[in-house]
Amino acid sequence: MPSMLRKTRLFTPGPTPLLPAAQRAMAAADVHHRTAEYRALQQRVVADLKAFIGTRNDVILLAASGSGAMEAAVSNLTSPGDKVLVLTAGKFGERWRDLTRAFGCQVELVTAEYGQTFLLDEVRAKLDGDVRAVYMQATESSTGCRHDVEGVARSCAAATPCWWWMPSPGWVPRASMYTAAAST
Ligand SMILES: Cc1ncc(COP(=O)(O)O)c(C=O)c1O
Repeated sequence: MPSMLRKTRLFTPGPTPLLPAAQRAMAAADVHHRTAEYRALQQRVVADLKAFIGTRNDVILLAASGSGAMEAAVSNLTSPGDKVLVLTAGKFGERWRDLTRAFGCQVELVTAEYGQTFLLDEVRAKLDGDVRAVYMQATESSTGCRHDVEGVARSCAAATPCWWWMPSPGWVPRASMYTAAAST
């Protein structure tokens, strides 16, 4: 039987398949993380990410999966007891709900059916002055639905001191990501 080249392909939201050049770079010699060489590399990567995402705000690199970044957002932006608003319409929205509850936040919910998105009027109705942060997905990849981050951001700006979302560079139009980031 002729031998076949079997290549595993991931049909998941992540990790993103890498170009061969990026794979080869990762196989090259290790760089120590407290050297000038590493600092230069990190500065270059962060500068490129800012251009890719379309932001002038800080970009933070985390050695974690997406859930690690979500947990960092909850533990850094809110304290136990804080009132937060979670928008959920799928598995990853439910992860915000479970994380914020586990962290001891007072969690208000706006929900939509799987495959649907939120009514902005419902979101606005929940945004009283006590809401410390809003947690939502930009794209709910468990259902394939893109949420109106920009609309929620505009609704939040006046009443809410800070908010967060799980951005999806490449899925969300850059202009809307920039507007959302600029209104924090
Ligand atoms: C919308 C969304 N939120 C959160 C996550 C975090 O999941 P993980 O911790 O498996 O990276 C993912 C991962 O695919 C995602 O697509």
